[in-house]
Amino acid sequence: MNRLTKQQEEKIQDLLSQMTLDEKIGQLNQESVSIVGGFDVPFEELIEMMTDGRISQEEFEKIMSTAEQDYHEDDIRAGRVSSLMIQDPEKVNELQKIAVEESRLGIPLIFGLDVIHGFRSVYPIAIAEAGSFDTELFEKTARMAAKESRGHGVAWHFAPMIDVARDARWGRVSEGPGEDPHLVSEFARAKVRGLQNDHSSPGNYVAACLKHYVAYGACESGRDYNTTSMAPYMLYNTYLPPFKAAVEEGAQTVMASFNDLNGVPCTVNPFTLRKILKETYHLPGFVVSDANAIRECVTHGIASDEKDAGIQAVNAGLDMDMGTGIYRDHLKEAVEEGKVSMDVIDEAVERVLRVKMWLGLFDHPYVPEEVIGTYEELPAEHVALARKAAEESIVLLKNENELLPIDPKKKVSVVGELADKREEVVGAWSISWKEKDCVSVLDGMKERFENLEYFPCGGPSTEINEEEIEKAAKYGDVIIAVVGELVSMSGEASSRADITLPDCQREMLKKLLETGKPVVAVLMNGRPLALEWEAEHVPAIVEAWHLGIQMGNAVASVLSGDVNPSGHLASSFPVVTGQCPIYYNHPNTGRPGGKSKFTSRYLDAPYDSLYPFGYGLSYTAFSFEDLAVEEREDSLAVSVSVKNTGSRKGTEIVQLYMRDVTASIVRPVKELKDFCRVELEPGEERKVEFILPKQKMGFYNNEGEYCLENGEFKIYVGGNARECMESTVNLSF
Ligand code: GLC
Repeated sequence: MNRLTKQQEEKIQDLLSQMTLDEKIGQLNQESVSIVGGFDVPFEELIEMMTDGRISQEEFEKIMSTAEQDYHEDDIRAGRVSSLMIQDPEKVNELQKIAVEESRLGIPLIFGLDVIHGFRSVYPIAIAEAGSFDTELFEKTARMAAKESRGHGVAWHFAPMIDVARDARWGRVSEGPGEDPHLVSEFARAKVRGLQNDHSSPGNYVAACLKHYVAYGACESGRDYNTTSMAPYMLYNTYLPPFKAAVEEGAQTVMASFNDLNGVPCTVNPFTLRKILKETYHLPGFVVSDANAIRECVTHGIASDEKDAGIQAVNAGLDMDMGTGIYRDHLKEAVEEGKVSMDVIDEAVERVLRVKMWLGLFDHPYVPEEVIGTYEELPAEHVALARKAAEESIVLLKNENELLPIDPKKKVSVVGELADKREEVVGAWSISWKEKDCVSVLDGMKERFENLEYFPCGGPSTEINEEEIEKAAKYGDVIIAVVGELVSMSGEASSRADITLPDCQREMLKKLLETGKPVVAVLMNGRPLALEWEAEHVPAIVEAWHLGIQMGNAVASVLSGDVNPSGHLASSFPVVTGQCPIYYNHPNTGRPGGKSKFTSRYLDAPYDSLYPFGYGLSYTAFSFEDLAVEEREDSLAVSVSVKNTGSRKGTEIVQLYMRDVTASIVRPVKELKDFCRVELEPGEERKVEFILPKQKMGFYNNEGEYCLENGEFKIYVGGNARECMESTVNLSF
């Protein structure tokens, strides 16, 4: 799938031999579409005005919509631009025509974009979709996004985001697949397959861009862009595995992350970029910086000026500059001064040309005219897939006295402003969606429930309306309270120091509960929340995240019982924010948290999470019996009997964990090693078997060596990280 043909390889070498230094540097430059006017203040000032609230987001966007933009046509014609971020197919073809037909060598542009969880058919944010534990789904949704974006000229996704994240204060938890390296790795593999592997037509695949490399999710105190530092064994066992897995799967490109890692920003880090990513993992394509990140190396204090930052970056293995123009402006001089060798430049250029060749851009540089506009109406199968993804991502957290599901004939009051906001279903990093395609929770509920009234009553940033609450209680037999975070409260640059529900949302829940009517909380949020109060007082809680264009129909399907929820958590939920970072796969310590004082615990908060990794309820129930572990030559055969002990069909997510009890460095108390979705009819029992290769039971030490050490291992199987059956084996490798 990754191999170029002999002819393609020869064409690359032939191009390299013809290229001037200027043209070579041009291939390492991604230009931003600059805003050059149409308003009477400098663009930077406009940004400041929006940031400090002098103008609203809407006013800003209105100004932007009429602003004049510089697409760098002359630079493209001169061969000084390699890539741009644009999603309008006509504009893509216009600029591509200049590159292909007017530049000296006709090297095509590569258009990239943040397509994190869907292009036009937006599906659940990654923290949600990962909770389906459905690798086939991960792949299908990625393939759908690839087709839709390539149909708009976007052949490069800055995705999948595969940062392991353990601190829900970080806003970008929403963008990644959670806290577990194995689940994140399987998510990464599936996304790469979905994005890259359908070569049945040039319009069906794109280049993946694994991000953010590396350990960005470990930003201290969950504060975005903050420093990261860790022992090598932590880097090797927790943060690198998803990137290793995805490069093994054939990922073409990688984006270096903003953070400094152990004192060296990842943008200029030869150890992570060259030694690990290129020389050990053998990345076939190129590395791009994050936006403005080369310039920020001056701010980091690792470079004396922009030219120094550019020299350090390209020498460290950072091939393409996203948006600063530093490579464009300084690399030629750096080469002439001998500070950057031609070998470094040629290697970077070759990597970029290989990806463009692999994408077929030399043969198919344009969006075919007949393709343009085909997604004005979303294909029915795309909408259906978005709905399936949304339904499988919903997690039932609490269901006291089986309050759920609700008979669609019952009188239902839907409460909360979030319910009626179509723009709030798409989640962070959705760029190419249309409101007309979005189904709000209220839209979906109205469709499914015959006797329904809507009472706004308040939202994440508006005070509650007690009169409305009274009306809601008067009308409905049951109240569906849609509460949570605005999309703007998670994603990039959206860390929160307190991850409880916004106060006004909890106040609204309290008032609703005081009416005496049963209340179901439907959460719309982009991160795990600290739900201590809600878990104690609200009888039913459904985690609905930001599920994309079909959110409303998915929520209605689950609340009505048409769909039995099967989602499980890809990230632990804390009791209180102060527990962050909190995750299941932690070392035991010498004093594991317990009842006695002198153990690893808090005076004022519980030791354990509220809801653990892998947790999720169902409208039915499952039992696990007969765990058996059989040692084979190269693997363990682990089997368990899973039974649906309830009265309706349901899907359980069976999880296999292990623990290396004694090793040369401390190991986590549990490590996820495999999982599968099992659908069972009422009363049905099935034997589920995992084959765990012994080779996968090891770990990296602080020297980066992979170790398989003899000794005792625990094997766990269950429906979440906390409640498992346990077995013990002694292994000699
Ligand atoms: C942003 C993000 C990165 C994104 C890039 C381009 O700052 O960190 O995830 O791909 O810029 O938009």
